[in-house]
Amino acid sequence: MAGFSSLVLAAGKGKRMKSSLPKVLHPILGEPMIYYVLSSLREAGSSSIGVVVGHGAEQVSSYVRGLFEGVELMVQGEQRGTADAVRTASSWLSGREEVVVLPGDAPLVRSSTLSRAVERFRASGADMLLLSAELEDPSGYGRVVRGEGELVRAVVEEKDASPEQRAIREVNSGIYVFKVEPLLSLLPRVGCSNAQGEYYLTDLVSLFAEGGLRVLALQVDGEEVLGVNDRWQLALASRAMQRRINRFWCERGVSIEDPDSAFVGPRAVLEEDVRLSPFVYVLGRSAVGEGSFVGPNTLLRDAVLGRRVFVHGFCVVEGSTVCDGARLGPFAYVRDGALLEEEAFAGRFVEIKGSSIGKRTKVPHLSYIGDATVGCDTNIGAGTITCNFDGQRKHPTRIGDNCFIGSDTMLVAPVEVGDGAYTAAGSVITEDVPPGALGVGRARQRNIADWARRRALARGERKGD
Ligand code: UD1
Ligand code: CA
Repeated sequence: MAGFSSLVLAAGKGKRMKSSLPKVLHPILGEPMIYYVLSSLREAGSSSIGVVVGHGAEQVSSYVRGLFEGVELMVQGEQRGTADAVRTASSWLSGREEVVVLPGDAPLVRSSTLSRAVERFRASGADMLLLSAELEDPSGYGRVVRGEGELVRAVVEEKDASPEQRAIREVNSGIYVFKVEPLLSLLPRVGCSNAQGEYYLTDLVSLFAEGGLRVLALQVDGEEVLGVNDRWQLALASRAMQRRINRFWCERGVSIEDPDSAFVGPRAVLEEDVRLSPFVYVLGRSAVGEGSFVGPNTLLRDAVLGRRVFVHGFCVVEGSTVCDGARLGPFAYVRDGALLEEEAFAGRFVEIKGSSIGKRTKVPHLSYIGDATVGCDTNIGAGTITCNFDGQRKHPTRIGDNCFIGSDTMLVAPVEVGDGAYTAAGSVITEDVPPGALGVGRARQRNIADWARRRALARGERKGD
């Protein structure tokens, strides 16, 4: 469905969210609600997108600008209703033939539904088409009042509806396709004498109908029209999106043990034979390669995992890359641009930050490796720490190939351990260790003979009585 314009209304405060965050920035599976609307529009082939911002305009604009190039932003100074929001976009609209208008708080609308709406609008020659749905519980939504034949006569907001109108179960989704010319010429006729004192976009339905223009309704699946006005609806939308995404990946060869507790974001990519355990998050631009296993209670955010990666439970990987056959955890934290090369291992209670860990290198237990470059086939003993921060600046550590770093080594950066070198357990390494050398940096042990008995005597204790 090529070449349609669309206008997203996203200026409202979202009072019912009770939040300082603008409503459309509330996340669903790690992405702001408006992400879903804009990406559905893009996917449906909308060639020109405008967004009306207002409440939290700076925050919303900078998000949209950052991720959706070419989207035009318009500011509605005061939020006086959905019709007023569209009026803000008058000059952007003029000269266009048709436009899809939709709210920023309806994240579940599918791209295929948007294309279908435009198709139907064009084929029918209608002046306005709205998407509607029959709901078990229509409360909170505007009701669709049908007229003759397939024509719609009005949309009545719940707060203004008569008891008979409230009984109508067909609701307005807030998603419309308009011919722009009558839209612009009738907008000034919308008043604000209603229960909320707002300029309702929905008043255009009766204005169109009274003017002899044709308004049609296209019924869609109830889930798609869900409008998020409060936190409970946000939770319901999250649930619905979660099911949709999990099902999508299951159909593509991913095993998800418990779809209710696996949270995969819309930008994540999973390959065949990936297995996700319960309580797993795969968010942002994460990717998980073929045959990888993600154990329970794990968070991946902007994490790229290669093939056959094995992640034990209780791991966090953020903004990092883990190559084929590598292993993690349990209880590993890999972050800020870390790279684990093929078959590397970061084990129990290990934090790897901004470091690269070479092929087959192991960091099995209780270590902090920060701002380091570690070569291949090296073993990092338990309790090894890179002391990378001097209170002001971060410094690098370099460890070569085939090294053996003894347990509890403190590597005081900047420092370098050459290929094949060793460090003695418990060392504080402040100077470079040349290739093949053993670095020892610890106090020599001495044993004080008979110490325990003499201490007891000094305390007046008598042993063996
Ligand atoms: C609206 C519809 C209602 C429909 C429902 C579907 C109207 C009057 N009512 O009600 O018929 O059933 O959506 O979810 O349109 N906005 C602005 N500027 C404003 C006011 C709102 O940009 O001055 C934006 C909001 O940010 C929101 C969208 O418009 O994204 C809809 O506004 P909202 O207040 O949520 O309308 P509803 O009461 O849900
Ligand atoms: Ca709404």
